[in-house]
Amino acid sequence: MISSMAADHAIWPKEDDAIFGLAAKAQEAIKKYGKENVIDSTLGALADDNGDLICMKTVYDELKSMPNACFAAYAQVAGQPDFLEAVQEACFKEFRPDAYIKAVATPGGTGSVRHTIYNYTNPGDTILVSDWYWKPYVTISEEFGRKVAFYKLFNEKNEFNIESFKENFETLLNKQKRLVAIINSPAQNPTGYSLSDEEWVEVINIMKENAKDQNNKIILFIDVAYIDFAGKENERRKFFKLFSNLPENILVVVGYSLSKGYTMYGMRLGAAICISSNKDIADEFYYSCSHSSRANWSNCNRAAMEVMSRISKDPAKLKAYEEEKAIYKSMLQKRAEAFVKAANEVDLEILPYRDGFFISIPCDNAKEISDKLIEQNLFLVPLKKGLRFAVCAVSEDKCKIAPAMIKKIMDEIK
Ligand SMILES: Cc1ncc(COP(=O)(O)O)c(C=O)c1O
Repeated sequence: MISSMAADHAIWPKEDDAIFGLAAKAQEAIKKYGKENVIDSTLGALADDNGDLICMKTVYDELKSMPNACFAAYAQVAGQPDFLEAVQEACFKEFRPDAYIKAVATPGGTGSVRHTIYNYTNPGDTILVSDWYWKPYVTISEEFGRKVAFYKLFNEKNEFNIESFKENFETLLNKQKRLVAIINSPAQNPTGYSLSDEEWVEVINIMKENAKDQNNKIILFIDVAYIDFAGKENERRKFFKLFSNLPENILVVVGYSLSKGYTMYGMRLGAAICISSNKDIADEFYYSCSHSSRANWSNCNRAAMEVMSRISKDPAKLKAYEEEKAIYKSMLQKRAEAFVKAANEVDLEILPYRDGFFISIPCDNAKEISDKLIEQNLFLVPLKKGLRFAVCAVSEDKCKIAPAMIKKIMDEIK
């Protein structure tokens, strides 16, 4: 009997996605014990206080008003021109850098990670990622025969660990002469950290210093999947301006996603947006990514593109959309504040939270703690270095009680 037909590069451990598995378990518990008795903080999607998925009315009313042809038609491979304009507006707002900027539509932010890793590294190269990270960076790198090295996200003062970033960045760049480094900010998954503008200046200074060697090719991928839920108004977009007039051997790629900001997770739309001081490099980006799109998914969701362009073009619709989003952003901020306050009250150590969907609790035995918490109907995600609590999915009242439950189990297991 044979046990495998797949080619060598396509054989992976037979394991299902752990987060989706846990989410399914939480749903079973809800059926058995009732919503009020279960805390499901597994999935990275906004839920209302009742635990139901939030679907923005301004987005879905617009979508449902569109003619069938808007859903049925193919889109252009790189994305509809209106969408490519709208997505840049939505991403940068008033902080568009002074540079050549080109965008290509991708299925969610995931597609932009894929395009950057595949098109800007050679087989066998190593990508630089922080030690608290979103797992698909590694999955995508492995898929293409790339490796991953990790810098420490935090120093002893719980600030961005610029020394660790610099050391790993320079070691890899000196060896490879090209490097894709990933920074997920603002509202990092899983910690909720956002680099300050001063920390961004330090990152850029390191890149500029290393760009003096003309043989170096530096690619910074900034994952802004959660930017629409970060900071007050647009303050977390200010740093984009710092990417004006960069040396030509630094290419910045921004991974934008409509999954969170438009609550269109399953509609699969995002964009890879490049920032360069050199027009040819920006054009090359556009054609490399378009080729990749054609080779992988051909084109993206036309209706999702259309809905964003329609909202973006109409000031009244844009205002209504922004107002609706602001309500959810404030809901999220209140939940996170409640969790942080309750954690402080019971002395539960958490990583520095600034914005977004998640808060992380550092610990060595995350799986064991998570298993014990499941017995009490609290579902959170165990990671290598700790536990991830999704404030996006849990009511403020439950955010207030969860830290004490977690702390109690951690103390019992110690
Ligand atoms: C860190 C991070 N980057 C990117 C994404 C993009 O996801 P999607 O492809 O669903 O837009 C996510 C979604 O979970 C994420 O957590």
